[in-house]
Amino acid sequence: MAGDVTITVNGTSAGLPGSTPLLSAVRDRLGLTGAKSGCGEGACGACTVLLNGEPARSCQLTVDSVAGQAITTIEGLRPGGGAEAGRLHPVQQAFAAESAAQCGYCTPGMILVTTALLARDPRPGDAAIDSALASQICRCGSYQRIRAAVHRAAELLAGEGPAAPDAGAAAGEPDGDRWGPPVPGGPQVRPRRPWDLTGPADRDWFDILGDGLVVVLEPDQPDPGTWTTASTAWLHVTEDGLVTAFTGKVDVGQDNRTALRMLVAEELGAPLHRVRLAMGDTDLCPFDMGTFGSRSMPDAGGVLRRTAAYARTVPSARAGERRVERVAGEPALSDPASWRLAGRPHLPPGAVAAVTGARRFVSDLRQPGMWHGVLLRPPVPGAALRSLDQAAVAGRPDVLVIQAAGLAGVVAADPAAAADAIAALQAAAQWDTPAAPSHDELADFLREHPSAGGPGRWGGPHEEQQGSAASALESAAVRREATYTTAYIAPAALETRAAVAAWDDGRLTVWTGTQTPFPVRAQVADALAVPEHDVRVIVPATGGGFGGKHASGIAIEAAVLAREAGRPVRVAWSRREEFTAGTLRPAAVMDIAAGVTADGTLSGWTHLTINAGAPGIGTPYLTADRRLEFRPAASPLPQASYRALAATANNFARESMIDELAHEIGVDPIEFRLRNLADDRLAAVLRAVAEHIGWEPGRDPVPGVGVGVACGLEKDGRVVTAAQIVIERARLVRVTGLVTGYECGAIVNPHAVRSQVEGATVMAFGGAMFEAITFSGGAITNAAFSSYRVPRMADVPPVEVVLLDRPDLPSAGAGETPMIAVAPAIAAAIFEATGQRIRSLPLTTDGALP
Ligand code: FES
Ligand code: FES
Repeated sequence: MAGDVTITVNGTSAGLPGSTPLLSAVRDRLGLTGAKSGCGEGACGACTVLLNGEPARSCQLTVDSVAGQAITTIEGLRPGGGAEAGRLHPVQQAFAAESAAQCGYCTPGMILVTTALLARDPRPGDAAIDSALASQICRCGSYQRIRAAVHRAAELLAGEGPAAPDAGAAAGEPDGDRWGPPVPGGPQVRPRRPWDLTGPADRDWFDILGDGLVVVLEPDQPDPGTWTTASTAWLHVTEDGLVTAFTGKVDVGQDNRTALRMLVAEELGAPLHRVRLAMGDTDLCPFDMGTFGSRSMPDAGGVLRRTAAYARTVPSARAGERRVERVAGEPALSDPASWRLAGRPHLPPGAVAAVTGARRFVSDLRQPGMWHGVLLRPPVPGAALRSLDQAAVAGRPDVLVIQAAGLAGVVAADPAAAADAIAALQAAAQWDTPAAPSHDELADFLREHPSAGGPGRWGGPHEEQQGSAASALESAAVRREATYTTAYIAPAALETRAAVAAWDDGRLTVWTGTQTPFPVRAQVADALAVPEHDVRVIVPATGGGFGGKHASGIAIEAAVLAREAGRPVRVAWSRREEFTAGTLRPAAVMDIAAGVTADGTLSGWTHLTINAGAPGIGTPYLTADRRLEFRPAASPLPQASYRALAATANNFARESMIDELAHEIGVDPIEFRLRNLADDRLAAVLRAVAEHIGWEPGRDPVPGVGVGVACGLEKDGRVVTAAQIVIERARLVRVTGLVTGYECGAIVNPHAVRSQVEGATVMAFGGAMFEAITFSGGAITNAAFSSYRVPRMADVPPVEVVLLDRPDLPSAGAGETPMIAVAPAIAAAIFEATGQRIRSLPLTTDGALP
């Protein structure tokens, strides 16, 4: 086209408008979606490409600024021509072999920066690696594995060491072992009605799955005393033994997929590679309340194991047979002590897709004829739209303004046109804004604004009492009271929320990265006043969730805009929207009073938590007289679930008080805990960590150096974290080591558990040290990665993981509980090094002591 500028991408020339942002050019015009959007301001590195071999942030460049330069995206990374063509680059091999990713959203950028680093420094040390990758965010916290992958890539490039397992694998290999749900624009595999809303006898199993045997586990009768997120499962086995199991759980990077496949394979006696798992597709999968609360192993794992165990006992399908077996009750399950497959480490599937850019995340999906939608957002939470002058965008071609179902937004053929139009509308909108506090007024505001609580299991007030805490405190030999606080923090998954909605003959499909596809289906149906069975929600590969991607908002937005526009619509939130239109981990104010008898035994204990929630408020210590209370408050900012919920706040307060008491009575903090712990499993983890770090009670203090330890028990997982810190110039706190000990019953996949413990420890480190939302008059003032600090490569110390396997106990989850002892351990270490007791999270102001 006249006026286009020619650029060369991966060796191929293309003519594009010169003003097009380079990121949009490679993704939207050339279909090279390995370059990701993460921030739009040059602060995360997800959009990295190579310009003449050097890393560049494509979100900060335009097409005309790169004319004449050789642009390489992850799709163009090759070791060389000739016989090497089509093979993985050694850096890709190393990242795959080290399993240096969880969700994989940051991986293409990491690999390209590493490639450039190794070209100029073939043997970088850790400091050089940290410096080169300082610009790249991995929100899953895989930094340690990424560092290991860089070293391994250096060895491979030098011709040292064995070739990595994925060497030679062809780029574009399917995203392994997943039963791919339909993608936009691809063939639509759709049952007549969602199977979970249809009786088993009426489901069109075999039209979708082909001949074979289907085994359906009948749901148990609900027991009012118990609670589960998943009560049934089904699986299909072909006559030649290919198994497809179905669960409503989703995998947003945590790799519950591999462990669930392992459990099915174990019970069926099948090889793992013959077991596929369909996840998070509401037309095909059994109802599931959501992937939260570390319930994948206990709930989905439980019903999948039972279904597979039954499948082993019924006759196999013969050729051409179509048979459904409905089973109920408790089959004999395999003994974890004699597992042949489960209990051994298995890497996640799709490593090649992750390192080549072939993995298609929600934000990468496109649909023929699709337009791009952007919503009008209020300036502060709770503001009401008073007026909107649509004339502000009149006369723009290929732009539609839509006001419907309580939403206002635009759709446009081009994402830049949509962004321009919404900016013009935003300037023309009038809002009524409520009075709201600022962050330095928050603690008083929460105390002064109690509420009835929100919906859900964790929303309402909670109170429990045993004995008389008041009397016990009165008679205690030592009594201590303190108030602890935690800031609002953001999940900040590297992939912002995205959804693609398409209507087809009155039926809607929404592809979106939600952790709760079935509740989202119900909420979309409700918002659009359509029958639930006409709505399908599919969860493709997603760039992280961390408990923050529950809400249905973006799915409703895409569905409303698509219906009104009469065409498929994609909505992808900006980083600013992710901070301001998403939800935050609740801030907390916690009052604790505790007493100790003359012999060092905990006596009275009271714990009041305001706003954050009740999880983790219970205590693992023997306290005969106690009072625990959660009091909801009217949060000025939108808040909801977050990885580990309130357990991080409550555990920070309790473990900090335990440390304070131990120091006050002059007893070693580990000895004090062991003396008072009521849980033998947690005591075992504490002893294991103490031994691992060589803890010496009464050791001589080293000036400026501190070691702290803290415990936690939540969701049937036991965690102990030990932290070592050093105080540097200008009172900077440097965490030099973290050790997390964890016990979650019978370990199904040690690789995934270890990876989750590492990632959770890193994420908790951020919240402990510096993450905090700031706000003024209700408006968030740091809604960007340039102002909201998350852990980066150079921040993160070595993280050691000590796992205790208990094959005699049920399996619990590992995604959340490993977070909850990090902050109190660092706080205790700071106290040991400085004598300064910090009772607020984050513990530092941008890394420095307050
Ligand atoms: S640096 Fe470009 S998207 Fe974050
Ligand atoms: S693996 Fe790095 S952001 Fe998820």
